Parts: sequence; C-alpha cells; structure tokens
Amino acid sequence: MAGAALVTGAGSGIGRAIALKLAVGGDTVTVNDLSAERAEAVADEIRAAGGRAVAVAGDVSSEADAAAIHRAAVTAHGEVTLLVNNAGIAHQALFENLEVGDFDRMFAVHVRGTFLMTKAVLPAMLEAGAGVIVNVASQLGQIGGVELVHYSGAKAAIIGMTKALAREVSARGVRVNAVAPGPINTPLVMQLSEEWRAAKRAGLPLGRFGEPEEVAATVAFLASPAASLFVGQTLGPNSGDVML
Ligand SMILES: NC(=O)c1ccc[n+]([C@@H]2O[C@H](COP(=O)([O-])OP(=O)(O)OC[C@H]3O[C@@H](n4cnc5c(N)ncnc54)[C@H](O)[C@@H]3O)[C@@H](O)[C@H]2O)c1
Repeated sequence: MAGAALVTGAGSGIGRAIALKLAVGGDTVTVNDLSAERAEAVADEIRAAGGRAVAVAGDVSSEADAAAIHRAAVTAHGEVTLLVNNAGIAHQALFENLEVGDFDRMFAVHVRGTFLMTKAVLPAMLEAGAGVIVNVASQLGQIGGVELVHYSGAKAAIIGMTKALAREVSARGVRVNAVAPGPINTPLVMQLSEEWRAAKRAGLPLGRFGEPEEVAATVAFLASPAASLFVGQTLGPNSGDVML
C-alpha cells in the first residue's frame, strides 16, 4: 500500500536507491540529506520519472533539524508512514588513533540521528496504529571491522535499538526492522582504503560488492505488507559475508 516515506541521507548511494524504489512503488517520498543540492537532485529525479517527492536538507543528528525535517515531510505529504533511517558517514582509523571527536560524530549521525528521527515520527504512527521503520545498520555492527570500532559500535547500537523498539511498539501496529548490508558500491565505501576493499572483496562468497539497488529491494520488502511477520529483524544483503 502506498504511503508517505521519509528517507534520511537519501541524496546518495543506498538512500538514493531506496527513495527511487519507494517512489516507483507509489509512495510519496521526503528526500532528506545534509546536502541540499544532493537531496534536490534526487527529488528532481523522482519527479522526472513521474513520482512525488520533496527535498529537505538537514542534519539528522541535530534535534532542531530532525524536528524541521519531520515538519517539512508532514507539510508536504501528511504524516510519515515509513521512516528509513539511512543517513550515515564513514571514517577509518586504528583504535589508538581514534579521536574523541571521531567517535562522537559517528555516534551522533548514526545513533542520535536514528533516535531523533524515530522520536519525531513515532507518536503519529502509534496514534494511527500503523507504521514502518527500517534502520540501516551494517554487517560491521554484527562482526566488527578493523579500523572501524566507532562505526561498528554505532551500527551495533542501531541493531539493539531496532530490537528494543520492536518489542515496545509492534503490538501497537508499528513494525521496526533493520538491514545490515555488506560492502555496497557507493561513495561511502570508496572512502575506505583500497587495501580494505580488496581484502573484503576477496573474502566474499559471492565475489562482488553489492549495488545500492540490491539493498533498496530489501528495504522495500521490509516496508511492504509481505513482511508482516518481520519484527525486530536484521536482514543481511551482504554477498554472503555474514551468514546467520
Ligand atoms: N556502502 C556500504 O558498503 C554500506 C554498508 C553497510 C551499511 N551502509 C550504511 O548505509 C547508509 C548509506 O550509506 P551509503 O553507502 O549510501 O553512503 P553515501 O555516502 O553514498 O550516502 C550517505 C548520505 O548520507 C548523508 N548524510 C551524512 N550525514 C548526514 C546527516 N547527519 N544528516 C543527513 N544526511 C546525512 C550524506 O550527505 C550522503 O548523501 C549509511 O548508514 C551507511 O553506514 C553502507
């Protein structure tokens, strides 16, 4: 059933693919990104294809911005029925070289951002007795990654939050799940070192990184009524890197 989707960090990579996929499925889409230019470009792309989208710039880790993003989404398309917490950043350093600021920013964007955006949309979902939240974690939150203690920790936190919130709200009509992608060909993964990427690729059962559209398909499934029994789950479009 078509609804009103809000996708954070949708100006690039996986978020962009999710926004495009949901729009093709009939959802109206609020395209959020830190970069107004990138958000606008994706909203333009959706409208050019005949879909309905609005671009909203803002930083999900800021309480004021998160509230403003939510307000803009509701103004454009009515109450949000699907939130995809996708905004994310990459940064790589050995633990002994990690600065407190690197750690804080990683947790601010991924964990605080997911918390703030969920806080914004949840009351209306609970009131309606319906809604879906999909959090974009990472397989590194399940298995850890070298030089990625802060990233892995933040993604593990998202998986824990997904499970805990699902326990609280699923009986009231709101389904909360996560995806934990493996390496996906996006600008974010290109920020990691070539050595890291080569070693990762060599170890993948599928022998290749994923494409953003392959993650978007998993998110669209979790958002659909076909996923009615999926509650607090973490699905892994990950080229076979992690098998649970
Ligand atoms: N690419 C991968 O291999 C991979 C694997 C697992 C998980 N992920 C996760 O998928 C998500 C999307 O990553 P991607 O690979 O598409 O990256 P990307 O860099 O292509 O896109 C991320 C987008 O998020 C935006 N963003 C960053 N901080 C933001 C903030 N504070 N508020 C709003 N927008 C913000 C960026 O401007 C960017 O446009 C992230 O959460 C990432 O951690 C990516």
